[in-house]
Order: sequence, then structure tokens, then C-alpha cells
Amino acid sequence: MTHRWLRIDGSSSTIILECVNKGVPLWRYWGPKLRADVKPPSLGQVTPPASFSLDARPQLNVFPTNGFGWFGAPALRAHRDGADSAQLFSTEDVRCDERSLSIILCDRVAALSVTLSFAFEGNALRATTALTNEGDRPLSIDWIAAATLPLPANTIHRQAFTGRHNGEFVLHNERMTQAGWHQENRRGLTGHSGPAAAFVETTTGTIYAAQLAWSGNAIQTIEWNDEGHFVWQFGEGFTPGEIMLSPGETHSTPDVIATYAFSMNSAAQAFHAAIRARSPWPDSRMRPRPVHINSWEAFYFDHDEARLMAFADRAASLGVERLVLDDGWFKGRHNDMSGLGDWTPDPDKYPNGLKPLADHVTALGMEFGLWVEPEMVNEDSDLFRAHPEWALQAADRSRPTARNQLVLNMARDDVRDALFKAIDDLLNAVPIRYLKWDHNRDLAPPGGRAQILGAYALIDRVRAAHPHIEIEICAGGGGRIDAGIAERCHRFWASDNLDANVRLPLQRNILRLIPPELMGAHVGTSPTHATSRMQSMAYRCAVALSGHFGIEMDPATLDDNDRAVLSDWIALYKDLRDRLHQGNVWQGTANDGIVWQAHGDAQRLLLLVYREAPETWRTPSALTLSMLDATKRYLIRHLKSTVSTTHSPAQADFWCDVQHKGQSLDGEWLMHIGLPLPSMNAENALVLDIAIDC
Ligand code: GLA
Repeated sequence: MTHRWLRIDGSSSTIILECVNKGVPLWRYWGPKLRADVKPPSLGQVTPPASFSLDARPQLNVFPTNGFGWFGAPALRAHRDGADSAQLFSTEDVRCDERSLSIILCDRVAALSVTLSFAFEGNALRATTALTNEGDRPLSIDWIAAATLPLPANTIHRQAFTGRHNGEFVLHNERMTQAGWHQENRRGLTGHSGPAAAFVETTTGTIYAAQLAWSGNAIQTIEWNDEGHFVWQFGEGFTPGEIMLSPGETHSTPDVIATYAFSMNSAAQAFHAAIRARSPWPDSRMRPRPVHINSWEAFYFDHDEARLMAFADRAASLGVERLVLDDGWFKGRHNDMSGLGDWTPDPDKYPNGLKPLADHVTALGMEFGLWVEPEMVNEDSDLFRAHPEWALQAADRSRPTARNQLVLNMARDDVRDALFKAIDDLLNAVPIRYLKWDHNRDLAPPGGRAQILGAYALIDRVRAAHPHIEIEICAGGGGRIDAGIAERCHRFWASDNLDANVRLPLQRNILRLIPPELMGAHVGTSPTHATSRMQSMAYRCAVALSGHFGIEMDPATLDDNDRAVLSDWIALYKDLRDRLHQGNVWQGTANDGIVWQAHGDAQRLLLLVYREAPETWRTPSALTLSMLDATKRYLIRHLKSTVSTTHSPAQADFWCDVQHKGQSLDGEWLMHIGLPLPSMNAENALVLDIAIDC
């Protein structure tokens, strides 16, 4: 019997696989980084025989299949007209260096080969799988796992998301149970629950977290295996018969990004780093994220060149740096019944085209951005009248509309070519620096994988032809936020719900997966359109500060006081954006309803503190900052707050000092006892600077 160990390391985690003879490598370890000389015992050596088992009992490997003694979750369900469905792979080749590993498996009887790839980027493990049909008949794939990951028996809680339009990324914390868990998205795009993703907590508080980098149907399962562990799988969801692999053809899964971390915050930081490493910034570098204004809630469909020019003037005077003309600018688009598909300016609203407006915006020192929804078509459009066959349709079935629109079949070359030409013509004719790329419905009938790959190909083609363009991805708010499309975009619209109290948890949950510079966070109106609730301008601004700051209203509707408050927060955002973006982010809670977000490092932190609900304690809670340096003393300075911390309610001396000249405290005190907070009324926030006091 030959044994070989395969090991790769991330910055603070390790995976170890065990190869026995030519068998598929066994999962032996995924956890905290081990010393280089740690030698695990072989699994065979430590596993006693169990009754009613095969004599050679299979254990969890990196690509488990059913049929020869592994009765747990399979990584593959595939067949050729019912044959070749029980697969048995052996290892053909392995390539391994310190950070990456690729394993080639082969089943000569079923005529299949598989390449599994694992690579650490920082502390995030990227895993992906490719299957090739080596036979001479087509292979139907019902399921293939992008990754099969082991979770130890001491995992106790699982946090994952659900959501809907105007209520994205709702976090659920549930106990891990041996009944298992299956989460499946069948909507045809990522959806308002976010991508397949979860955070699994162990009894000691450490975290296993993973997300699938894919914008379509997806499946995530956690199954208990009575060998004593959970098996965690991610993959695409296919409709029956969808994936038919021709002889010689290869199917590649999306990536899974996974991390083992000592805390929820380090797991999110590993995700942020992995997504940043894939970010496609023009010229390979993120520019400071410009203050953004979007026309949607200001005008909906009711705008024209003169109104937009005046809007641009008002925006520029507030310090806005990018203006995005949202829906309603193109031919025949006066409401949501018509126009999608006809991507030329509406002759009544924009008789001179968009160039005069874009030039006006540019002359004011702002960038001009434009909303498009390329994958959609209204039946009342020239495009649909010319090409009704371009809309997705199941043979002999009706086509269900949603928001009065149909979905174009993105698998068709002619559809993608026509869409590319329409977008390319616009980008050539008008100085557009930014596209808000929307997708306002679920897919019925299903478009499947081909639809997603078609959309990716179109975005990639637009970016290749116009590399200076930035793209914001939107799908009725945050319906297409995932690490797959993050490789081809520069911002996500988080939600159409601008109620600051809805946004607060929603944005915090998105930040578990995606870094703050990619999360569009706008100051909306009061009362807010989605919920009719009223919130102060300052509180709305403070909540928008936690992402890529923007405005979703017409400044003409503001009184002088609110305009001045907004303009102050815009200036603050510009001062702070280098610290808010690209660095480490921590989130936490303090007692009695306080939530906070910190950006920076142990040298210097920017701390955002929010109180949504009224206080119930007589004395405000303290806020512990465990990321600080216990050996240092820190100066705490007040940068901005939405409350008068000196008058109402009355504050302790400490806070009056923080506000006026700063106060210092020992790192060790801040880490273990915490920062004393001022008394705060509901719907208020503080922005603080905490830096080593030299
Ligand atoms: C979606 C988006 C909004 C806006 C509208 C336009 O709902 O989420 O921000 O762009 O479409 O129709």
C-alpha cells in the first residue's frame, strides 16, 4: 500500500488530503494552520472496522461517488441513457505546490475524467471541478459538485440568507442538525437571497464559510454522514436534461470560495480579499469611489433633457461626482409597459440624443452613467416586433411576463451580437463612463446555465471593447450579488429599499460576502418610497457611509437645512473613503441594540456606531474592539455624529471631551472592557477615529 499526503496552506488555514494507492484523495483535514512538520496518522490506521459495512469501507474523499460503498452525498450524478451512473474514480495525476493543488481523476469504465483544483488566495480557498466526457456517447449530468468540503461534527450553528425584492439578504441562524439541510435557488439568476453561501460556526466559535461564485441556479447542501462529519457541497442547479456533454466535451463548474477562520469577521475579511483579487478595475486599480447620484427615485420615468440638466446642476453643487440616468431614457419608455430592447434615446424626451446631457454632466466635473437592462424585452418594442423568436420560450407554451417584460435568450449568438452593437453604439456616441446593468425579473421559462454564460459573455465583450467603463450590477435591487459576476463588475446595487433601518442589517449582511467599496449605499428620501417611514437626513447619510456612498433623490426637494447636512456628509465621505474602502472591515454589536462597523487596522480605526431603537438601559453599553493592540494607548476623536452629544440627552464628561478635544484610553481597556458610549436617541449614529496616541 502506498501513502502520500497532499497539503496546501492559506495564511491561517491548512488542508491535508491523504492518497492511498491510486484512490481518490481522502479529506483528512481542513482547519487552523498546522506546523509544517505535523504528520497526521493515516485514516486507515485510526478507523476501526464497523459492522454492516463494506470490508474496504470508503471514506469521504474530494470527489465522492455512489455505487461502490460510499453512501453519502455524491459529487456527481450523471449517466448515458441510464448506463455508467455508478462511477469509481482513481487518481491519474496530482500537481501540488505550497498554495495550489490539482488532482486528475479517471474512471476508465465509465469513460470520464475529472480535474479538481484547489488554490489558496490569502486565507480563502478557491475550489473548482471540471468533468470531461471521454466516451463516445453523450453524458447527461444531473448534478456535479463544484466542491465537496468536510465539516467537523462540532459545528453547531449555520448562518445563511433568504430574501425578496426590497428585503434582500435576511440572515437566519439555525442549529446544525443531522437531518441535513438543502438550499436550492431555481429563479434563474442569483436572487434576492444572495448566492449559495453560509457561515458555519463550531462549538469553539471558529467559522467555516463558503460562497459559490455563480449568478444562476445553485444548490447548497449539508448532509450528516455517520462516519462522524458533515459533508458540505455547492454546485449549479440544472433542469432535467439541461447538461448533455458530447464526447470529448468538458463541463467546468463555477468556483467555490471557502475559508476557515477564527471569527465571523476574519471569514468576511477572507472573502473580501478573495473578491478584491478578482476585481476587474479599469487600469487594474480602484479609483476612490465617486459620490454617485441616481435619477430613479427622483424622476422615475418622468424626465427629459432640461430636467436632467437642472438635476445635474443641483447635484454638482452638492459635491456629487457621478450622475446616473436611470430607466426611462430610451425609445417609447414612458412606463414599464414598453420600450425595453430599443436602446436609442427617446425622441420626445431626448430629441438631441444623450450627448448634450452627458456633455453637460461632464462639464460640471461629473461622470455620466446610464441604466440599461440588456437581457430584457417588452412585447411593445421594435426589437420584439422584429424578433419575437429572440425571447426565451418553451415550445408550445405561453411566455409568462414579469413587470410586463420577457427575457431574451442569451444563448443565441444573434441576440448577444445585437445587444453588443446597441451598447457599443451608445458607448461610442456618448461620453458614458458607467453602466447600471439591470435584470428585473426571475426566469420563466428557465434559461439555465446558457443564459448566465451568455450574459457573462456579453458583459465581458462590452468591457473588452470599452475597458474604461465601470459597471454596476442590479436586479430589482440586490438580486444579482455574487462573486461570479463580481469578476466583471465594479458595484452592486444593494436594494431598492432605502429605509435606513432596513438598510442597516441588509448592508451588514451583504458585507459578510462582498467588500464595502462594491456595495452601493444611497441616501434616499424621507418618507422613504419603499416603507413610507421617515428618518433624519443625518441618520440616512450615516447609514450610507458604510458602503459606496450615493444619493437617490432630487436635491430640489430638500430644504436648506437638509441640503447643508447632505453636503457635509458628502464632504465627510470624500475625506474618509480611502479608509472606508479596500481595507479590513469588522462588524459587531454592543449591548442594548448598538451595532457597529470598523475599518482600518490596529494602528488606526474608523468606527461607525449605529443605534436604531431607543435605549432600554439607564447607562449606555461599552463597545469592545478586540482588533486593537493591547500594548498601545489610543486617542478617540469624534469626527461626526447625528446627535448633539453635549446637550440632549446630557452626556458624561468623557463624551464631552471626546467631542471637543479627544480622549485617550488604553488598548487593553478598549479590547476587554470597551469604549464607553454616549447616550443616544433612536436612529442616531457616531463616526469616530481611534488611533494610536503617540
Ligand atoms: C430596478 C432597480 C431600480 C431602478 C429600476 C428601473 O427596480 O432596482 O434601481 O433601476 O429597476 O426600472
